[in-house]
Amino acid sequence: MDYLNKILPGDCGEVLKALPDDSIDLIFTSPPYADQRKNTYGGISPDSYVTWFLPRAEQFRRILKPTGTFILNIKERVVDGERHTYVIELILELRRQGWLWTEEFMWHKKNSHPGKWPNRFRDNWERLIQFNKSKVFNMYQEAVMVPVGDWARDRLAKLSQTDLVRDESRVGSGFGKNVSNWVGRDMVYPNNVLHMATECYNRNHSAAFPVDLPSWFIKLFTLPGDVVLDPFIGSGTTAVAALQLSRSFVGVELSPENIATAVARVSEIQIGLPLMIADEGVEYQTLADI
Ligand SMILES: C[S@@+](CC[C@H](N)C(=O)[O-])C[C@H]1O[C@@H](n2cnc3c(N)ncnc32)[C@H](O)[C@@H]1O
Repeated sequence: MDYLNKILPGDCGEVLKALPDDSIDLIFTSPPYADQRKNTYGGISPDSYVTWFLPRAEQFRRILKPTGTFILNIKERVVDGERHTYVIELILELRRQGWLWTEEFMWHKKNSHPGKWPNRFRDNWERLIQFNKSKVFNMYQEAVMVPVGDWARDRLAKLSQTDLVRDESRVGSGFGKNVSNWVGRDMVYPNNVLHMATECYNRNHSAAFPVDLPSWFIKLFTLPGDVVLDPFIGSGTTAVAALQLSRSFVGVELSPENIATAVARVSEIQIGLPLMIADEGVEYQTLADI
């Protein structure tokens, strides 16, 4: 099956059964949110979200390479005045399925409008939860280094005696730092909070994330030529990021409208038809039909 650099129409739980074991380097995705967008792409009720997700995650685990990473962009919605627990339950169930919950990143939506509701403020961040099959996985930290920042000029201009040696934590945490290590460095490692604007290419897709978001994780967890899967690819943002970074992509999408958007976006970068029509189970047969 020639699935590379294609959008595969259908339910990812079924479509991905055709992909070989251990064939994907990174899964990066934002699944449909529980119940939230019923009118746009069919929400799943919060109470059945975990049951709905698990068989699809089983396929993700089968096709991810042992050295690969799965990044899940998800946020618990408010149901009946409180945060629903489906994300927490999903993490626990994914661990039971065999995944390691390795890390969690926060996407701070830095251009979000201010706002408030009677008992809460605007939700201005989303989770990106990292799962792996093994404790040893590919990670290329140098690829996401950031400029050291203006603070360094003044702070490092004059070092104290303490700055010249490793200063151990006073609370016995085992952590310590040697400030002099930063002298002469232009680039440093980032932390796990990503400050990115919500601006996106496709304003028709109500839940598209910015290209910068998948790009950051693609650089961190893959090399050029590796394969990135987005099983809920929506308007094709992950495909755009992968192609721009010389990686291959595989996308799966249920909605014909979103497939059309994704195909149009990918066509701007990729030569050749970026759509694979499944043999059965889809109503549309040609690109013109979607
Ligand atoms: C949160 S959106 C993804 C948005 C995407 N990250 C983007 O930037 O456009 C989730 C997408 O999953 C699609 N979807 C829902 N259920 C699906 C399924 N079972 N298999 C594949 N796609 C599905 C929806 O149509 C929707 O486009």
